[in-house]
Amino acid sequence: MDTAATPLTKYKMFIGGEWVDAASGATFESVNPYTGKAWALVPRAGPADVDRAARAAHKAFTEGEWPKLTATQRGALLRKLGDLIAPKAKLLAEIEVRDNGKLISEMSAQTAYMAQWYYYFGGLADKVEGAVLPSDKADIFNYTRHEPLGVVAALVPWNSPLLLTAWKLAPALAAGNTVVLKPSEFTSASLLEFMKLVQEAGFPPGVVNVVTGFGPETGAPLVEHPLVAKITFTGSDATGQKIYESAARGLKRVSLELGGKSPNIVFDDADLDNAVKGAISGIFAATGQTCIAGSRLLVQRSIHDAFVEKLVAFAKTAKMGDPMSTDTQVGPITTPPQYKKVLDYIDIARGEGATAALGGAKSADFGEGYFVQPTIFTGVKNTMRIAQEEVFGPVLSVIPFENDEEAIAIGNGVVYGLAAGVWTQNIKRALTMANRLQAGTVWVNTYRAVSFMSPFGGYKRSGIGRESGQDMIKEYLQTKSVWISTATEVPNPFVMR
Ligand code: NAI
Ligand code: MG
Repeated sequence: MDTAATPLTKYKMFIGGEWVDAASGATFESVNPYTGKAWALVPRAGPADVDRAARAAHKAFTEGEWPKLTATQRGALLRKLGDLIAPKAKLLAEIEVRDNGKLISEMSAQTAYMAQWYYYFGGLADKVEGAVLPSDKADIFNYTRHEPLGVVAALVPWNSPLLLTAWKLAPALAAGNTVVLKPSEFTSASLLEFMKLVQEAGFPPGVVNVVTGFGPETGAPLVEHPLVAKITFTGSDATGQKIYESAARGLKRVSLELGGKSPNIVFDDADLDNAVKGAISGIFAATGQTCIAGSRLLVQRSIHDAFVEKLVAFAKTAKMGDPMSTDTQVGPITTPPQYKKVLDYIDIARGEGATAALGGAKSADFGEGYFVQPTIFTGVKNTMRIAQEEVFGPVLSVIPFENDEEAIAIGNGVVYGLAAGVWTQNIKRALTMANRLQAGTVWVNTYRAVSFMSPFGGYKRSGIGRESGQDMIKEYLQTKSVWISTATEVPNPFVMR
């Protein structure tokens, strides 16, 4: 490794308003997936550090300035944080690209756009209203308050580290909670850099903390910690399940955003040029490393061959290369285990009898980088593993269908239900599909659109709970019912009122 030439950038964690190393002094390397070389050193937190962070967050929730702030003041802090993002968006994006190898064009758009979550939930902070309830009992005044839960543990993945942090952090803070964040061990640096902005915005110490490290040493003790009231996680369904089990032992609240195997459905009446772009954005954008990947392309049989031909021709033009360069369209896979997983699924697909109409191998054009060719499999049946299991890479399964009923049956015929795409010019068909597809998001004649205003989350095994949108702040609140008697006398104490 030529680390002698370029010294590794050293990061510290942010706990209780201080920049700290792990108690053990241990660190680990962050690797650039384009070069395959380490570029940063990150503290390797263990249970002692997690305990310190959870205590700091709990202290900040119960004592000091934070619980005394009005919702309006909390909102102002969030909006200030939003303001601090724009001048740093490019720097944050570059750090993310160095860590996860996603395109600079996508990451810089994301880091700029994420400010909107801090503005939106900053604005919402003081608009969460309780109610004065009618009462069937005499002389009772009954009202509700929505109160924060306490310490929220937020575990964010490597594919969009800061954007997905914003989805959790902004509403959690708007609601008045305190937070311990744990980034993926593959992409810790951008969140640590972002903590400088959190500090500059003026959040009291301990309101936002970051511990960096691995699943068993850092993630598991955080989820288990008795001072944690709620866990919000985005990642694989396997880890989501472990977290849910752990949360059950502690009777903690959970929100889980897990993977998908989303159908992107092209009808014969679609605008086919647009549908080709939709299929591409569903699977080759972000090198397919997105939970909402449209990894099953359902194509009506009457147009199947012509559509696949068009799609392959378009996908062939995709420019692979350096994710830091603005004209690159397909970058590397983020992590070595993910690289192996994607290549294994390519073998699995071939073994099941699918045919690679494009790609189907790693790409050796970029030295040590983890590159996989954009891959399109035809001859896929929905029962095959390649159609049922999440690959999380640039691997598309094309499945033909005859009619609307079959499209719905195949579309819904997986354990997941995160998203679905529908390409048609027929409004009746669009509405019917939107109603009948079991997915938390349905896009018609577009794909991969998200907004701070619109709820996002999974049906079935794709998750529990929603992120973004007004209602969602309730996932970080609990409701209290307050009863005040205005009677002059307490009635018969032996009878329920
Ligand atoms: P993962 O789900 O295995 O791990 C994600 C995070 O959970 C990491 O920060 C890890 O340190 C932590 N973790 C692991 N075990 C834990 C435990 N027992 N308790 C608490 N935290 C724990 O994701 P990974 O390994 O990065 O990717 C594996 C697969 O996950 C991908 O192939 C893809 O299918 C899926 N994935 C889904 C994402 C989504 O947006 N829904 C994002 C990233 C990955
Ligand atoms: Mg990395």
